[in-house]
Amino acid sequence: MSRTLFVTTALPYANGSFHIGHIMEYIQADIWVRSMRMAGHTVHFVGADDAHGAPIMLKAESEGITPQALVARYAAERPQYLNGFHIAFDHWHSTDSPENIELSQTIYRRLKDAGFIYSKDIEQFYDPVKGMFLPDRYIKGECPHCHAKDQYGDACEVCSTVYSPTELIEPYSTLTNARPVLRSSEHFFFRLSDPRCVEFLREWVAGTNANGDKRLQAEVLAKTREWLGGEDEEANLADWDISRDEPYFGIPIPDAPGKYFYVWLDAPVGYLASLKAYCDKAGFDFHALTDPASGTEQVHFIGKDIVYFHALFWPAMLQFAGLKTPDALNVHGFITVSGEKMSKSRGTGISPLRYLEIGMDAEWMRYYITAKLNSHVEDLDFNPDDFVARVNSDLVGKYVNIASRAANFISKLFDGRLAYAGDTAAMREEFAAVAAQVRDDFEHREYGRAIRRIMAQADLINQAFDAAQPWVLAKGIQTADDETRARLQDICSRALAGFKALSVMLAPVLPVLTRRVARELFGEARDFLWSDAGAPPTAITPFKHLMQRVEPKMLDALFEPPAAPQATPGGEPIADLIDIKDFARIDLRIARIVAAEEVDGSDKLLRLTLDVGEGRHRQVFSGIKASYQPGDLVDKLTVVVANLAPRKMRFGVSEGMVLAASHADENTDAGIYVLHPWPGAQPGMRIS
Ligand code: 2FM
Ligand code: ZN
Repeated sequence: MSRTLFVTTALPYANGSFHIGHIMEYIQADIWVRSMRMAGHTVHFVGADDAHGAPIMLKAESEGITPQALVARYAAERPQYLNGFHIAFDHWHSTDSPENIELSQTIYRRLKDAGFIYSKDIEQFYDPVKGMFLPDRYIKGECPHCHAKDQYGDACEVCSTVYSPTELIEPYSTLTNARPVLRSSEHFFFRLSDPRCVEFLREWVAGTNANGDKRLQAEVLAKTREWLGGEDEEANLADWDISRDEPYFGIPIPDAPGKYFYVWLDAPVGYLASLKAYCDKAGFDFHALTDPASGTEQVHFIGKDIVYFHALFWPAMLQFAGLKTPDALNVHGFITVSGEKMSKSRGTGISPLRYLEIGMDAEWMRYYITAKLNSHVEDLDFNPDDFVARVNSDLVGKYVNIASRAANFISKLFDGRLAYAGDTAAMREEFAAVAAQVRDDFEHREYGRAIRRIMAQADLINQAFDAAQPWVLAKGIQTADDETRARLQDICSRALAGFKALSVMLAPVLPVLTRRVARELFGEARDFLWSDAGAPPTAITPFKHLMQRVEPKMLDALFEPPAAPQATPGGEPIADLIDIKDFARIDLRIARIVAAEEVDGSDKLLRLTLDVGEGRHRQVFSGIKASYQPGDLVDKLTVVVANLAPRKMRFGVSEGMVLAASHADENTDAGIYVLHPWPGAQPGMRIS
């Protein structure tokens, strides 16, 4: 039966680049999606940036840009990671979108109408200098338990005691160092403790989906039981504070001026917002997909740190807003590198972009992660030696090797034609049966088991090939009889049929390689489906090399910090990389030097009057006196940083900066050289 699936990964905060933990989750979900599609199911796979919240607001503020601009900057770099690792979301959206505002407010109104929302005044720490309520993370002070200094407002990193910020000794705001004051304000709460909610959640967590699979992994279910309690126990659920006071970057709460939804309310709604935007674009019916009566299965891939939000708040919100509830939470552990834990914000020592930049194949990483994942909430360790061994001996040595060995004979001696001696039914059944098991492993996220089966099958194929010794037959093939020729062709054809079956099974993991195998080697008009595993090929076309081995030195390069920049003849190393967006923030313009004069009391500066095409003149001070006579500069064109904030100097305000080259060490006699455009440039033209 064909199923319709709506699949998501956790929405990343839009104040940082992806780290390998994100990539791992996306690869896991992408493989699942591809496998389900190969089985003929319809899958809508969406992601989005999680744009709201205090950290994003404050980071943008510190950079002097709007939160929207900050979010846009990170959104712009997402595709190079996603494309680079072949992660094929159907759509990528943002929680700061019209769809999300509308959906979040609608859900809130429905929850309110159903009696799940109430408000009350609570006291919280407020930064009187900054003029805002402080999230716990922005309050530090002395631990009330072990007296360690500078501990966060929610827990002590030294003695692990959990407390509330009001218990800190000598608290201070990390934003301004001011001592926070307690201030009361009205907050909105979602009544998680409502008996209807507890009853619903107890049933939901223990349930199975339409396909007969448990919604939650056993260890996740056990965790929720701690929160929800057993049948005749009291639930241990506190109501959920869903509002934040302005200033906040978020979605306004209807009919509550100055109040915004806490980021974790509208974040998961972002799953629906992304689906909605995708439906509008691709012509699907969003309401049909999210209706409680819909047969669509809603599947969320998430990390173990955000189970509370996804197993309690989110299903409850959906249920009591009259929407479809999730059918599965697929929870994974964290990624460690050689046993070391990563930091959530900085990630691990593996930079996904560096991985790609040094020419490592994204499919090696996909394969390695797959080989190590299972359906449990276990951490996955990236071990460099293990990585090299698995890719080189399994993927290249066992799988790719089959094609290299068998295809040669077929191309050279049989003009690319395959032929099987005798019946192929047993072989087809064997391949189809293994593929069915592998497909089932993928569906149940037993990825490591899938890979073990695939490699065991690869071993069998290699062993059969070796035992038949085709190279011996091939030696005298020009003078051999028909029977010998047929035997050689059969051995190689069976190996290639095996290679095709293995390729089908690896297609969710290695989408690019197996697409080439399908199209270029076997001449198929489409990508593989699961049903192709038991269909032996009839011909091949000569193909190019399929996959390189990993060079162990690549792993060294992956973990090495990028080489220290070399000093240049300019006397200083090249600065850290920026991207095009960083560059675009600098507005460089052509300027005409209208006047140039010496500055009384300065032996370095000239006062320049510039025309930057604005219908007014600017005054700019420039430290070029040592190299230029003022008269030589007048009427010349040059380049000016036009959006540099005006600076007050001893001699007056400077409204920009003229670009000039010089040696970093002023004491050399290398000189100063003002930039001068080629003829034809006009004042006011932008330089890019
Ligand atoms: O933990 C995080 O990174 C959150 N931004 C995840 C949100 S998942 C969903 F609810 F949007
Ligand atoms: Zn402590």
